[in-house]
Amino acid sequence: MAFGATRIARQMLGRAIAYSEYGNPKQVLRCIQYPVQHCSPEELTVRFLASPINPSDINQIEGVYPSRPSMTTDLTPNTPSAVAGNEGVVEVIDVGSSLRDRWEPGQWAVMSTTNLGTWRTHLTTKPENLIRVDQYAFHNVQEAASLTVNPCTAFMLLHSAVKLQPGDWFMQTGANSVVGMNILQLARHFGYNSINIIRARPDAESLKERLRQLGATYVITDEELMQRSEMKKLVPKWTENNPPKLGIDCVSGRTATEMSKYLANSATISTYGGMSRQPLGIPVSLLIFKDLRFHGFWLTKWKDEQPSKFRDLVIQMQEYYRRDVLHSPDVDLVDVDANAEPADFLKPFTDSIGAHGKKVMLFHYDN
Ligand SMILES: NC(=O)c1ccc[n+]([C@@H]2O[C@H](COP(=O)([O-])OP(=O)(O)OC[C@H]3O[C@@H](n4cnc5c(N)ncnc54)[C@H](OP(=O)(O)O)[C@@H]3O)[C@@H](O)[C@H]2O)c1
Repeated sequence: MAFGATRIARQMLGRAIAYSEYGNPKQVLRCIQYPVQHCSPEELTVRFLASPINPSDINQIEGVYPSRPSMTTDLTPNTPSAVAGNEGVVEVIDVGSSLRDRWEPGQWAVMSTTNLGTWRTHLTTKPENLIRVDQYAFHNVQEAASLTVNPCTAFMLLHSAVKLQPGDWFMQTGANSVVGMNILQLARHFGYNSINIIRARPDAESLKERLRQLGATYVITDEELMQRSEMKKLVPKWTENNPPKLGIDCVSGRTATEMSKYLANSATISTYGGMSRQPLGIPVSLLIFKDLRFHGFWLTKWKDEQPSKFRDLVIQMQEYYRRDVLHSPDVDLVDVDANAEPADFLKPFTDSIGAHGKKVMLFHYDN
């Protein structure tokens, strides 16, 4: 798993996936090449080993995400641009002279901030933008690459809105999302029970089994959820009249509305995504007679407000990987040749965007 440390060769060219206008990623993304900068005494130069494609990365390129990188002429002198991507794992390849007591080539790190642009090969940056990680804590490189967003979000969703006790129940939509699967692994660790909703599909039974193996107590499809007379009998039976105190939602729309009907009085719905692109409609009776509460969670805002707590959380998640509490759920690894011609560097990204399943781009270097 170790990657050999490499000093920066003279005139090395980096490659990045960038955009100069917002829009459909397949139309606005392009590959740019840039000279890899030598680092100043206070900087590090790193190369990316792997970077995931997350839904928020796509929303940023579309121009519909509240947090966005500035477009600058740093890499593209003629037209301001931004490099896409927010998450990834890097290997240090050069260390500024004043940092050599703390950093060394070969060290792995992840991003401490958003908007650094991680769909690229090389970056020269301040160490404050990075969090050192131990490569031997992970089962594979994709776990390290995906450390800072989904596991951290999963942990916060289970702990920020409601204080669950072992044996308590929660419900979640989008249970097969990577966040959802991280939630299941953590819930098993903490002893929480769950009713999980997935979209109906031909292979629903095998997906249900996979989620149960990860820690789900029950898994139903959205179509099964809509069978109200059946669900009204099943949920009290499953939960032994200890109804879910927490609903976790990344889908919104009809699925989230229906889920809310099975929650306990005064339960909280914690919304963290809106994959259906539909609004969350809540009958007033659920507010008046059940006093349901609504909570939104956005990791980006939380970590901007509490950067040192975020660093601690990232290291806590790393330790969960080391202790086998967390395992990378199934993701598709997509090979990217770091020295490819621009069109060939771009293609695996544009092919992966919009394709089903989580993609993690794996950068391959000649040395
Ligand atoms: N608030 C935060 O801080 C935060 C942090 C991380 C992630 N998120 C959000 O959490 C969500 C999941 O992220 P992820 O990285 O775990 O995603 P992911 O692994 O790519 O999974 C996407 C999930 O969305 C479902 N989905 C896709 N299109 C849908 C539709 N039209 N209707 C209903 N469900 C649909 C997928 O179900 P199928 O398998 O059926 O397609 C899958 O369960 C995203 O909305 C993301 O932006 C928010």
